[in-house]
Amino acid sequence: MEVIIRDTREKAVSLTASLIARALVKKPNLVLGLATGRTMESVYQLLVAMYEDDGLDFSLARTFNLDEYVGLPPEDPNSYRFYMNRHLFHRVNIDLRNTHLPDGMAEDIEAECRNYEEKIVDCNGIDLQLLGIGRTGHIGFNEPLSAMRSRTRPKALSPETVAQNAPLFTGETPMPRRAITMGVGTILECRRCILLATGKEKAEVIAKAVEGPVTAMISATALQLHPNCTVIVDAEAGSLLQNQDYYRWIFENEPDWQQYH
Ligand code: F6R
Repeated sequence: MEVIIRDTREKAVSLTASLIARALVKKPNLVLGLATGRTMESVYQLLVAMYEDDGLDFSLARTFNLDEYVGLPPEDPNSYRFYMNRHLFHRVNIDLRNTHLPDGMAEDIEAECRNYEEKIVDCNGIDLQLLGIGRTGHIGFNEPLSAMRSRTRPKALSPETVAQNAPLFTGETPMPRRAITMGVGTILECRRCILLATGKEKAEVIAKAVEGPVTAMISATALQLHPNCTVIVDAEAGSLLQNQDYYRWIFENEPDWQQYH
């Protein structure tokens, strides 16, 4: 795991977007794993700007989102499909047929989960998975006690996650209590992970995820087992990390990061 602390939220977001853009330029048919939520909105804003201003090309990209609420159709403004269309897919030149989210309306949820895993395999796996982190330490919707080897499946949302996300719900739709999420095992199989966290409300969980013991109670700790995972935080989200000086020293001295100083 490498940890990068940027002074501001803007710099943390911009580094994340640059790493995605660089991967896409290097491999135009990149298989990109995507996340939703407040943190990612500004990442998508920057990617859209790169498409508009610099011609960043999404035409061959393939995407797999981490999760979707059970019971919400794509046209519901609270669904993650709607979020992705609004923040990214409808604003860049991606082929919508190459964008994948679990179908929260599937009659047979178990079959849908198996099918989602198969689609990822058909694309030869995920090259780069973008991740946020919830207050429970979830990645995707892998709530506490998610098995390290779990696969895409329906998962009950914790009361804390319901409290975190309910304020985002608009209109009449009550927030579903279940979601389909890629499993921790599914996430660990992607070739590269980038986790982005900003703001002081993430400081405690980031400290546990990065420096705490690996535990199924905090799914993000599983990323310590991933051979190519970068955690990008702003100063606030990184404020409770014990080894900040070490992480900053590596960022300053590692040749790969020179271009981002
Ligand atoms: C959503 C997802 C979640 C969020 C996490 C953080 O697709 O995978 O794990 O990344 O809940 O959400 P925000 O950014 O709203 O704090």
